[in-house]
Amino acid sequence: MANSKLPAILMTCFAAFGGILFGYDTGTISGIIAMPHFLEVFGTLGPDGVHYIPSADKSLMVSILSAGTFFGALLGYPFSDYMGRKWGLIAACLVFCVGVALQTAAVGVAVFSVGRFVAGLGVGIVSCLVPMYQSECSPKWIRGTVVSCYQWAITIGLLLAAIANNGCKDRPDASAYRIPIGIQFIWAAILAGGMLFLPESPRYYIKKGRNDLAAHSLSRLLNCDLEDEELKTELAEIQANLEHERRIGSGTYLDCFREGKGKNRMRVLTGIFLQAWQQLTGINFIFYYGTTFFEQSGISNPFIITIITNVVNVVSTVPGMYLVERLGRRQLLLIGAAGMCLCEFIVAIVGVTVGSDNLAAQRVLISFVCIYIFFFAASWGPIAWVICGEIYPLSIRAKAMSLSTASNWLWNFGIGYATPYMVDAGPGNANLGAKVFFVWGSTCLGCLIFTYFLIPETKGLSLEEIDVMYEEVSPRNSVRWSPAAGLRHDSENQFSKSVHD
Ligand code: GLC
Repeated sequence: MANSKLPAILMTCFAAFGGILFGYDTGTISGIIAMPHFLEVFGTLGPDGVHYIPSADKSLMVSILSAGTFFGALLGYPFSDYMGRKWGLIAACLVFCVGVALQTAAVGVAVFSVGRFVAGLGVGIVSCLVPMYQSECSPKWIRGTVVSCYQWAITIGLLLAAIANNGCKDRPDASAYRIPIGIQFIWAAILAGGMLFLPESPRYYIKKGRNDLAAHSLSRLLNCDLEDEELKTELAEIQANLEHERRIGSGTYLDCFREGKGKNRMRVLTGIFLQAWQQLTGINFIFYYGTTFFEQSGISNPFIITIITNVVNVVSTVPGMYLVERLGRRQLLLIGAAGMCLCEFIVAIVGVTVGSDNLAAQRVLISFVCIYIFFFAASWGPIAWVICGEIYPLSIRAKAMSLSTASNWLWNFGIGYATPYMVDAGPGNANLGAKVFFVWGSTCLGCLIFTYFLIPETKGLSLEEIDVMYEEVSPRNSVRWSPAAGLRHDSENQFSKSVHD
């Protein structure tokens, strides 16, 4: 009887909890910096007797997280390759907690910003390690759905932050703003505590030459004993593949950019650009700047619309989790990019042609923003993480994952930083207003072209089969490619021997 894959699915889905840290941490600051008691502690008294935070302090406190996440993503490689995927994640939670502790204790902008930076380091490492751990540990037929759970958790984290902020903003106690900050300890404790009970990735152990430990991990994931045929075959395939990769390259940072037989350069650049394009869809414009945008479009209750857009984001990720294993990654990305492109052009046209007092136009605008979020959440949101977790060869996986995750955070920061200058009126600003959606619509066209030429179909393939696919066909032709039976089992006997030694 086939072994139950349920333990592997549940264990790898649990790691998605890292997404809550990611989403909550990025989403919470916008509300915290608007809370009255926070303004009293960290702000300055204005001439009108009202506390306010000067722009420079505000942008420092908001954007310093992205600097931390960027460097954290780059630390993803040493954390995951030296400590392992599992212990790397636990260590990242500890780093995160130091950052949260500093923020909770802070009574000045400097300490608060240092805390945000340190917490960002933790989030950056988590955002690199979770998809890698999930991809390496989940069964191939459901890997896309499992990694999509991570994106789902990000969206839930964003929503939880909005809810927590809303619940605390009117509390009378002077330290009310510390509650949404302190809540982050809970997410870190759950993730780190749970990871203690999960097995290490068998692929990590094989990379380290610990075949015995790899066999034990895989037996927990496959829910079988060490003599099981499926276990032996899978270990042999991972081992044979790693040996093959080592024959064609040594796995240094330079190797990430050597084309060679394994097409490393193409794969690493695909991941780096995929994450950049994901940010260039303009999604964080909605999550970081949406409230102001809706307000400027004349909408009277922008906070409620913000909660609605967050709910749409959470709910729409679910069809994506289902479709990623049905339609496949490539097709879903193509459909998502086309859908977002269309919606964004409609939002731009409605936004610039109709006056802000036109109720019907506002409804059309909100509806198309929501449909746009639907397309993002069901496609580019989860799939960028799914693909980056699976397209790199094991020998360079941790480094490549660090680079592509850092690319995500770099663009996240760049867009977040540039947006006010692009959208707002003011000296030296581009004053685009709703016209900014023409920019996002055009970049989504770029997403479509990029996907067509560079994104392969990886649905249903093991990570080792993806390596062979890259060697044999171009991404465009991958849809018709299927793995030959007995893929790289040449070292199977040698491997089984080392497991038993
Ligand atoms: C993806 C993006 C992230 C964005 C989120 C919104 O995870 O990488 O930047 O905030 O989706 O759901």
